[in-house]
Amino acid sequence: MTAVRPVRLNRRASLTVGASLIGLHAPGTAYAVGESAAMNRQDHAPGTAPPHRPGLQVASRLRDLADARGIRIGAAVASRPLVAEPAYREILAREFSSVTCENVMKPSFLQPSQGRFDFQAADAIVAFATAHAMTIRGHTLVWHNQNPAWLERVAASGENASAALRDHITGVLTHYRNDGPVPVPAWDVVNEAITDTGALRDTLWARALGPGYLADLFRWANEADPDARLFYNDYGAEGMGRKADAVHALLRGLVQDGVPVHGVGLQMHVGIGARQSPSQPDLAANIARLRALGLEVHVTEMDVKLQTGTGTDDERLAEQAQVYADILGTCIEAGVTSFTFWGFTDAHSWIPGFTGKPDGALPFDTAYAPKPAYHALTRVLAGG
Ligand code: G3I
Repeated sequence: MTAVRPVRLNRRASLTVGASLIGLHAPGTAYAVGESAAMNRQDHAPGTAPPHRPGLQVASRLRDLADARGIRIGAAVASRPLVAEPAYREILAREFSSVTCENVMKPSFLQPSQGRFDFQAADAIVAFATAHAMTIRGHTLVWHNQNPAWLERVAASGENASAALRDHITGVLTHYRNDGPVPVPAWDVVNEAITDTGALRDTLWARALGPGYLADLFRWANEADPDARLFYNDYGAEGMGRKADAVHALLRGLVQDGVPVHGVGLQMHVGIGARQSPSQPDLAANIARLRALGLEVHVTEMDVKLQTGTGTDDERLAEQAQVYADILGTCIEAGVTSFTFWGFTDAHSWIPGFTGKPDGALPFDTAYAPKPAYHALTRVLAGG
């Protein structure tokens, strides 16, 4: 493993602040640019990017280009590489203006036992983001996955389920209030509450609280922090279709009832190959009808799988770049205000673990070098 050599802090090496906040090294030092890429190199799998030279120098940063277009550009962040890998911190801070915790703001992490909140891991990511002038998207207050065992038990028993969930939302949003020391401006209040066929998903929360429960979640969140922007977040509802229709109808109903919902998150887990991503006209039409409800639209979890396509490595990477470019371009045109990738490096992506197959779904490869997708994204942001 390459040794990490601390160098004196200079103006460009602003990583020091966040890194020292997460206890990595002494204040006043930073890691040398490009030193750590070799630490993270892995053998490349078929269909994934061959390792590029670990060139960390790029002409324009995504975040500067995105600023000029009036859009936030974000990445989901995992705690372990943020602590362990200098290249991860360096690219995150350099390229992105928004951060989402990939896991550590979910209930199993934030309230592992009833009444005992643990904000340590999440706060380290918030501190890093704040130190680098990045905004934070909170993810997620309510979901049917990644709940602590005690909360699942309470939900299943039905007794006090509503109070327990409300206490969770209130506890989290009180800690992250926008008039407090650790503000989190936007939250996914509830994640994936609609099924692929457009029905209300049969979850522990739907069973415990009844079919009208979604409105309550937003009201409780709004009471805990009236300044937080509150989002409904889901996958597979990006283009037009049954699920997108159902999400739109749900949100229209909430808006009509005066429920404090401010936005919708389109996750955008897509792939290369036929019908693996929404068509540009469908995506534009869906965003337009959501915005017509008065809602803000964020892309919250984009990645583009390679395993769904065919062709040589270079062909797949070119197709992936095109998918990223088409979707970002459409979203900018349609008025999306925040565009987040679910990770940023193929070294840390949920997809191989989930699908059981190697992939390469993100804009940086496993050696932290920018892929064709990265360059395509910069061209779109630059207006080219
Ligand atoms: O925390 C445990 C750890 O204690 C244990 O040692 C380790 C052993 O495998 O597992 C750890 O839990 C893992 C957890 O992530 C935290 O790292 C789980 O196994 C793993 O399944 C879990 O996966 C996450 C997944 O949500 C859970 O459904 C992914 O990292 C995360 O990317 C993914 O994110 C979701 C979004 O929240 C919602 N939209 C879809 C997206 C992708 O599935």
